Amino acid sequence: MANNEDLFKKIISHSKEYGYIFPSSEIYDGMAAVYDYGQYGVELKNNIKQYWWKSMVQMHDNIVGIDSSIFMHPKIWKASGHVDAFNDPLIDNKDSKKRYRADVLIEDHIAKIEDKIEKEVLKAEKRFGDSFNKEEFVSTNQRVLDNQAKIDDISSRFADLMNAENLEGVKLLIEELGIVCPISGTKNWTDVRQFNLMFSTKMGSLSEDTNIVYLRPETAQGIFVNFLNVQKSGRMKIPFGIAQIGKAFRNEIVARQFIFRMREFEQMEMQFFVRPGEELKWFEHWKETRMKWHLSLGIPKTEYRFHDHEKLAHYANAATDIEFRFPFGFKELEGIHSRGDFDLKQHQEFSGKKIQYFDPELKENYTPYVVETSIGLDRTFLAVLSHAYTEQTLEDGTIRTVLNLPKVLCPIKAAILPLVKKDNMPEKAKEIEKMLRSDFMVQYDEKDAIGKRYRRQDAIGTPYCITVDTQTLEDNTVTIRERDTMHQDRIPISDLTNYIHKGIRPLA
Ligand code: GAP
Repeated sequence: MANNEDLFKKIISHSKEYGYIFPSSEIYDGMAAVYDYGQYGVELKNNIKQYWWKSMVQMHDNIVGIDSSIFMHPKIWKASGHVDAFNDPLIDNKDSKKRYRADVLIEDHIAKIEDKIEKEVLKAEKRFGDSFNKEEFVSTNQRVLDNQAKIDDISSRFADLMNAENLEGVKLLIEELGIVCPISGTKNWTDVRQFNLMFSTKMGSLSEDTNIVYLRPETAQGIFVNFLNVQKSGRMKIPFGIAQIGKAFRNEIVARQFIFRMREFEQMEMQFFVRPGEELKWFEHWKETRMKWHLSLGIPKTEYRFHDHEKLAHYANAATDIEFRFPFGFKELEGIHSRGDFDLKQHQEFSGKKIQYFDPELKENYTPYVVETSIGLDRTFLAVLSHAYTEQTLEDGTIRTVLNLPKVLCPIKAAILPLVKKDNMPEKAKEIEKMLRSDFMVQYDEKDAIGKRYRRQDAIGTPYCITVDTQTLEDNTVTIRERDTMHQDRIPISDLTNYIHKGIRPLA
């Protein structure tokens, strides 16, 4: 655990040093859980958005995108249930005066038991070597089974308590599990109470309560309230989807995990509208499709897992999270939810406008059901960044820090480097830079020795370094060095565009 904490700290400081992420308002001592993206960060973020948009909108003839506003009519948040129920259960430790989310304390307790299971599995893997069968081991080893039973018991008891809104019971569960405050080490807890996560502000010049508007806590409602507009203007036929990328705001109580939990963040959401009764089929479809999207980035399957929800909202009939192994353990990256007709029906009731679809095949009107996929852009950023951060010991004993980012997402695709700053090499390198710039984000760099420049590009995660040397001036060939293997090819300048295009293509 200590190692992972160290790793996480290194990732945070690397992000700052290399222009990926800066603390917000830093010269004024910063703001908790708000971050700014730097010159490389914004490129990585834009590339993730594009990668998602392409796969969800461009590659589907039945999904379209919108961009709705952050401010919406305040009644929308009453209809959606956010005003009354978008709460987190919070608890304070009386000795340290630190505030926690009760559900996160319980989740962390469960994660510790999961760690014990993982250690048991690793031990057995070492002992049995190639003949080790993980599935058989976890289904028969008594210690693993006992720990899994503990996890199941805690999860279902917690879900029951939350469903019954029994906050007293949640406190008792925390005490019974012996959960202590990580700062004070004591069990001196306050009662658990609900805390609404929405930010509000006032619109217009009058500061009356009637002018209160909220900063949207999710982008999804902008999609629901535009259902009829999009369906009619786009002549969309069910099943169809509406996608959106945009900012969301939540007044998070616990905000200590860098860009994992922010107060201002971005979501990439898609609401897929289906015939009632067909939602579970589509739920399975989107579960599989979304997992494939993650795997297409080339990050191994072992880093992802599904976590089905124990606690379902009353209108939902299935929900799962795609979790990622962040440096602080497996945590939610994306949610896939079968939400029934709840949202459209609520907006129909609160707006007084009929929100229905006429199905030309069935020749009937109905309120469509919804399956949503909702992924955090910043969490995806953190997932790819933390998986990419590598410290490699080279043959000569030096350490190379490299970001093995998925090439399709890299901020800079190629760096063009004259071997020396003379003999016409800079001019030739600049010609190449100009040639590549319309296809890719590229960078020219002539400062410092070539080895140092390679390291600088490794640290930003640039997949290709193109070097112009004496031979280039004779035969128009360059060396191109690949980031992960450090292997170099010598190729004609005229082949560079194709070479890079091929190299950065995603898996699927
Ligand atoms: N419309 C459904 C919805 O908003 P959610 O599970 O609350 O569902 C979806 O949020 C995703 O948004 C999460 O899986 C996570 O990736 C991201 N997310 C939620 N809160 C966040 C926060 N405070 N900071 C960063 N990302 C967050």
